[in-house]
Amino acid sequence: MIPTRALGSTGLRVGVLGLGTVKLGRNEGVKYPLGFDLPSDEEAAALLAVARELGVNLIDTAPAYGSSEDRLGGLLSGMRDDWVIVTKAGETFEDGRSRFDFSPGAIRTSVERSLVRLRTDRVECVLLHSDGRDAWILEESGAIEALETLQQEGKVLSFGVSTKTPEGAMRALDTCGVVMATLNPAQTGDLGAIREAGRRGVGVLIKKVLASGHAADPGESLRFVLGERSVSSAVVGTINPDHLRKNTRMCAEANGS
Ligand SMILES: NC(=O)c1ccc[n+]([C@@H]2O[C@H](COP(=O)([O-])OP(=O)(O)OC[C@H]3O[C@@H](n4cnc5c(N)ncnc54)[C@H](OP(=O)(O)O)[C@@H]3O)[C@@H](O)[C@H]2O)c1
Repeated sequence: MIPTRALGSTGLRVGVLGLGTVKLGRNEGVKYPLGFDLPSDEEAAALLAVARELGVNLIDTAPAYGSSEDRLGGLLSGMRDDWVIVTKAGETFEDGRSRFDFSPGAIRTSVERSLVRLRTDRVECVLLHSDGRDAWILEESGAIEALETLQQEGKVLSFGVSTKTPEGAMRALDTCGVVMATLNPAQTGDLGAIREAGRRGVGVLIKKVLASGHAADPGESLRFVLGERSVSSAVVGTINPDHLRKNTRMCAEANGS
């Protein structure tokens, strides 16, 4: 079983390795080194069973990940309460292109659609899926206020931003309970915000831990990321159960080192 860490001050504990699910629902317009087929329902169910057996309890999805949310809704049926579900809002991906809308109405519509697709009445975390305009999204779009209302209604337990800039990651700490930032040995620009998040009790999820599959040494990347004690969970995308097992072993070692 992998170790757990607190997700900031949300009251949730999450495995130090989280499961990223882009590859469960989308195989076009992605930056991975190799093309791939979406896993079958049987393969996806087997992957989730391995994840649970190993203590992975955080699953990261998004409306922009093709059929990922909808597939997870079916796959998690009967075990919803075992999972901390993180989804996103603000971006959709249809007909081969991304569209962004951070207006309060669009954020509400997106979250309510996610609940339907995921077949649940609440998600543990919703992150605004930034298109690069981090400061504008946080401070001018009205999206944060929409998420606060959804939180008051109990549909969203915590919220934050998946940021694109170090400044955005730092600014997110003023209003968010969780931030999703980028960190790996070759991309360290968010490190200041990640450490400050720890001091302020903001949960930190890390994306692109393996540089979207381009990392030369996954073990080194996981050690680097989990060496930061402010990091709650390293969210690594995989559809390969052997990689999941290997990553879990490496995370357990990295957590203690
Ligand atoms: N919010 C955002 O803007 C945003 C952006 C990017 C990502 N994310 C989230 O973060 C998650 C992870 O990011 P990511 O998918 O871009 O990149 P990543 O986790 O850095 O890398 C995923 C890639 O690494 C490969 N991989 C995993 N374990 C491996 C191992 N032990 N050895 C060799 N290769 C391995 C995977 O292939 P296999 O399937 O073959 O294992 C996959 O192609 C995503 O799934 C998503 O949930 C969010």
